[in-house]
Amino acid sequence: MNDAAQDLADATSEASLRRTVARSAEIERAIAADPSPFRVLTGDRPTGNLHLGHYFGTLAKRVSLQQRGVETFILVADYQVIADRDGVGPLQERVYSLVADYLAVGLDPERTTIFTHSAIPELNQLMLPFLSLVTEAELRRNPTVKAESADSEGRPMSGLLLTYPVHQAADILFCQANLVPVGKDQLPHLEQARVIARRFDERYGRADSERPVFRAPEALLSQAANLLGTDGAKMSKSKANTIELGMDADATAAALKKAVTDSERTITYEPQRRPEVSNLVLLAALARGREPDEVAAEVGDAGAGALKRMATEAVNEHFAPIRARRAELNADPGYLQQVLRRGNERARGIASRTLDEVRVAMRMQY
Ligand code: TRP
Repeated sequence: MNDAAQDLADATSEASLRRTVARSAEIERAIAADPSPFRVLTGDRPTGNLHLGHYFGTLAKRVSLQQRGVETFILVADYQVIADRDGVGPLQERVYSLVADYLAVGLDPERTTIFTHSAIPELNQLMLPFLSLVTEAELRRNPTVKAESADSEGRPMSGLLLTYPVHQAADILFCQANLVPVGKDQLPHLEQARVIARRFDERYGRADSERPVFRAPEALLSQAANLLGTDGAKMSKSKANTIELGMDADATAAALKKAVTDSERTITYEPQRRPEVSNLVLLAALARGREPDEVAAEVGDAGAGALKRMATEAVNEHFAPIRARRAELNADPGYLQQVLRRGNERARGIASRTLDEVRVAMRMQY
């Protein structure tokens, strides 16, 4: 690509991001007026314990959608884990721990369907017709696939890693979700799902019906402030800079005591200039449900030690009931299994109706 073409690509993607942000605000207003036209699907890979970045970034949002009456599906993406290179780890424990995290933060299995990939054969079967609708070049251009392959230090990429955006499209389309709450990094996947939905109809669309087989899903872009790790870098398990939902009060205090700050005494909220201090301010503010500037002013000249104590107290207070509930749930694996079985059964019912429609559209009903 020459420079001009590159600039154009960047400019269009900036512009398209702005459009997505504006559209997300519009969708939020539509939900407030009437949640019934919306169906949400989102999910996580069961790769480890959820941390406060997940909580303030996405979990709290899912709970709020559920509370506002939006029908919500949450996928424990166990087949996505097997696309990773480094083995799957203690997968079953991680799946149950993820379900415990979901329930502890307030997702209600009576209202929200929690399910796993591996239990829904009809969802996975959609992968085949969907794969026929994408090209290899398109998959290689997917930014996430590209990043994964750049990270792999020359090790070959599995076929599943190359094609997982198609699988993720099946996750979204099988249940006719029209809303996917995601962060920026997942937007290319959503675009892929939209393209697949459109191409499916172009190729197999029902002559006898105006209604497309799959409806086009839209992103609900999260506006949450980005919580960093205790060292000021992106919060990530591999950097040992996270505070996990399941940590106890002492472990939280220890992690925050180690947090990086700077040498200026007065506490301010300036995310660009003072990322580490501002991140602690943001954490305290999120946990207290207050504005970061207010929190910074309250600590003021008391300095970084006082800020850390305040953040620790705020986090421990906010998460005490969630942590207690999580411990109870983890002590009851039978209940967690029952939640998954019910969710899987419900998701399977929907997947099987969708696959029936696909068979009709493809003239493969025997
Ligand atoms: N890829 C997502 C992640 O890395 C998890 C995921 C799988 C997902 N399927 C999805 C998210 C469908 C949104 C919609 O966390």
